[in-house]
Amino acid sequence: MQEHLTATAKKQFYVNRMFATIAPRYDLVTSLLSYGQDQRWKRKLVAMAEVQPQHQVLDLACGTGDITYLLARQLGSGQATGVDITPEMVELARRKQPSNETRVRFETGDICQLSFADASFERITAGYAVRNVPDISRLLGEVFRLLKPGGRFLSLDFGKPEGHFYRWAYLGYLSATGSALGWLLHGDPDVYRYIAESIKHYPGQSGVQRLLEETGFVECGFITFLGGAIAMNWGSKP
Ligand SMILES: C[S@@+](CC[C@H](N)C(=O)[O-])C[C@H]1O[C@@H](n2cnc3c(N)ncnc32)[C@H](O)[C@@H]1O
Repeated sequence: MQEHLTATAKKQFYVNRMFATIAPRYDLVTSLLSYGQDQRWKRKLVAMAEVQPQHQVLDLACGTGDITYLLARQLGSGQATGVDITPEMVELARRKQPSNETRVRFETGDICQLSFADASFERITAGYAVRNVPDISRLLGEVFRLLKPGGRFLSLDFGKPEGHFYRWAYLGYLSATGSALGWLLHGDPDVYRYIAESIKHYPGQSGVQRLLEETGFVECGFITFLGGAIAMNWGSKP
């Protein structure tokens, strides 16, 4: 796994294969690993996005569509688009769509190279997405291109606690529970142990804020949950 997470070209291949495997159990495992807190963090992300009824919003790496549907609830004439690279995830997201819900659409695609025109969206969200891409700066450049001036980007992801002992214990906990769940559900301990390993290679909330500022975002900030184990970053396009 180490080799795949450090080599840019191999990481996306590894991530794609892993999410295709876990897609049918993704909602269950997310709820278990977060002790049911995940929905609360997602609602907070959407509340902080301050979506207006006419907005065009994009949900990056939408997975099974939780955040996309929450965003759509804020919309009137606007549209929420969810994009994910894993067809199995997109299929699960589409299955949740009520027949009368016209404010949501889903597409399969790579969030680091999207075909939408420049300045297409007022809001862009990302749930546990930034940590998974091979090149975060490239992703943030793409987000910047796609936002309208004044538009806002918000990202929810695992964080990196500041305290060394807490960080060590938290990564150990994620690694152990991830291995056990992976073995139980898929016969492969590496499937969810990936979370802890990917956090080690991730710059965390402070690093993401620095990368946002380097990309040109303004009014950047973050809040943390569980003492820094989970974080939400944001920034606006001037
Ligand atoms: C941990 S899941 C998060 C799903 C959802 N956003 C949520 O919060 O529940 C990460 C998702 O990122 C997707 N993903 C990873 N790399 C991607 C990429 N380059 N482009 C689009 N989606 C990607 C995976 O397919 C997976 O569905």
